[in-house]
Amino acid sequence: MTQSLIQGQNLSKVYGTATGPLVALDDVSFHIEEGEFISLVGPSGCGKSTLLSILGGLEAKTEGTLVVGGKHHDAPRADIGMMFQTSVLFPWRSIRENVRLPGLILGLDKRQQAQRSEELLDMVGLNGFGDRYPGELSGGMRQRVGLARLLAHDPRMLLMDEPFGALDEFTRETMNLELLRIWEKTRKTVIFVTHNIGEAVFLSDRVFVMTPRPGRLEGIVEIDLPRPRTTAMMRDPRYSELVFEIRRMLGVDH
Ligand SMILES: Nc1ncnc2c1ncn2[C@@H]1O[C@H](COP(=O)(O)OP(=O)(O)O)[C@@H](O)[C@H]1O
Ligand SMILES: [Mg+2]
Repeated sequence: MTQSLIQGQNLSKVYGTATGPLVALDDVSFHIEEGEFISLVGPSGCGKSTLLSILGGLEAKTEGTLVVGGKHHDAPRADIGMMFQTSVLFPWRSIRENVRLPGLILGLDKRQQAQRSEELLDMVGLNGFGDRYPGELSGGMRQRVGLARLLAHDPRMLLMDEPFGALDEFTRETMNLELLRIWEKTRKTVIFVTHNIGEAVFLSDRVFVMTPRPGRLEGIVEIDLPRPRTTAMMRDPRYSELVFEIRRMLGVDH
């Protein structure tokens, strides 16, 4: 039997707060295969970011076991890249220098990183912008820089927390297509948090549906739309069926 890349078993997270313990995740179990594109969907406060932080080793689980690549996992690791709703870019560093930052921190080969950062800027459609500064870029372009930086140290897993959530609909759609194009090429394992059900269906191999009862994994929906995905598939009856199946699980259909 081959082992899954990520195995979470009976994971729970309880935060200590001023008003007492708060259960953010309750007995969550799942497995994720290498190269899969997984989305986590659920209403705000259901524990998506908490689960992602535990997967990234930024937050400690309270109970359960988490095995990544055959090893127990409870600390930040270099083979993970994280991206958030707004990319924190250093305003006094050029776009190129911002992309090179993870490699610099990890002490990777400078020449290789220099070449890689140019390739990545190309890949995310920012060819020619390397010498610009973050203040000169739109929100969408800043997230492109964030995407290039995410890939800079060639992580095995990409953990993305509503990375396009602050972008307008059109830019978001472009970024989704861009992300899928990069994913098809690199086949990294992606765990993508969103509260946009359509986005989750469009991108994913499987969607983890979370509900606030509190912090439960309600179910997992297999997305059997063919790849590569195209925006025309959003008119496919199967796409709507999958969206409505998830809506039903979330209890948002009345
Ligand atoms: N550091 C923290 N301390 C205390 N409570 C927290 C902390 N982080 C998150 N929470 C609480 O845990 C629950 C889940 O939060 P979160 O994982 O951020 O949800 P989501 O990302 O789905 O919106 C929420 O009720 C939130 O208020
Ligand atoms: Mg969140």
